[in-house]
Amino acid sequence: MTVTVRSFAKINLGLYIGALRADGFHDLRTVYQTIALHDVIRVGVARGTGIVIVCTDPRVPRDASNTCHRMAERVLDKLDATGRVTIEIEKQLPVQGGLGAASSNAVATMIALERALKRRLTQAARLRIAADVGSDLPQFLVGGTSLGVGRGEEVYPVPDLPPLPVVVVTPEIGVSTPQAFADWDELTHSDASDRLLEVGRALSAWMVSPNTGASARSGSRAGSLLLDLVRTGIENDFERVVFPQYPELRDIKGLLERAGASYASLSGSGSTLYGLFRTREAAVKAVLRLRKQGLRAQATVTLTRAQYWKRSLAASR
Ligand code: C5P
Repeated sequence: MTVTVRSFAKINLGLYIGALRADGFHDLRTVYQTIALHDVIRVGVARGTGIVIVCTDPRVPRDASNTCHRMAERVLDKLDATGRVTIEIEKQLPVQGGLGAASSNAVATMIALERALKRRLTQAARLRIAADVGSDLPQFLVGGTSLGVGRGEEVYPVPDLPPLPVVVVTPEIGVSTPQAFADWDELTHSDASDRLLEVGRALSAWMVSPNTGASARSGSRAGSLLLDLVRTGIENDFERVVFPQYPELRDIKGLLERAGASYASLSGSGSTLYGLFRTREAAVKAVLRLRKQGLRAQATVTLTRAQYWKRSLAASR
């Protein structure tokens, strides 16, 4: 039996890096937001043993280092199940691009494998296994708009932003996240301040603003909600270490702003940049302009939690 799951990407609406912890991870605060760009994961289980990764993209590892492989191992172990697991990854999202593709692929593998085995893990077990495989996996078990704290693995759903048009630019640069964190330590001398507390206050103020919550469900509120968020002064700390190394990424952020983005930023540690737009028409116009400038740009939209789950599972049989 083969189960197909869409594996959606995320962007970070602000990302703040705190102190280096004793376990080698950094404390952080971020707002994760799932978007409609996706890979497709197909998981099949047959008699026998072993985990096989099938992917035509040469940049995707096919050995035990692949996040999907690591996930399948853990799920089989937890469910005390056996079988020959084949995981096919249909790659559209960038590799090492800051859109969380490898993490999303691993969570899609978990969901598909449970269905293929006709077995279920508890939500708590899913979250534990996801966090064990990587810091930004658990948010793909939540979807929509969520707040990430701890090393990013502790994730809380927050009121969904209404669907917002997004333009994503994916340069052909892979950025190593561990290296970007190490560069951050060098830049800041791991200077821990109470900055994350201030950030937490700004984010919670945004979450209780009049435009969030139940009253914000209709799309007409999208603009003011977005403005509220932008007014909090959201920033991605990784820009401070990644832009000096890849100045072309800073230039692309500027081009997104000039193409009309209400807000533009690096996603995660990059190299993807995104811009938030008020209307779909404005986003499409910006894409045409950015493509003329030689960039790989795509128009997409943010996904609410309900849309994320509906569309993830729509392809599953
Ligand atoms: O959790 P994940 O496997 O994505 O983390 C990869 C590496 O990135 C970690 O080993 C660590 O060096 C760095 N990292 C960090 N702080 C975080 C998340 C990741 O320093 N919050």
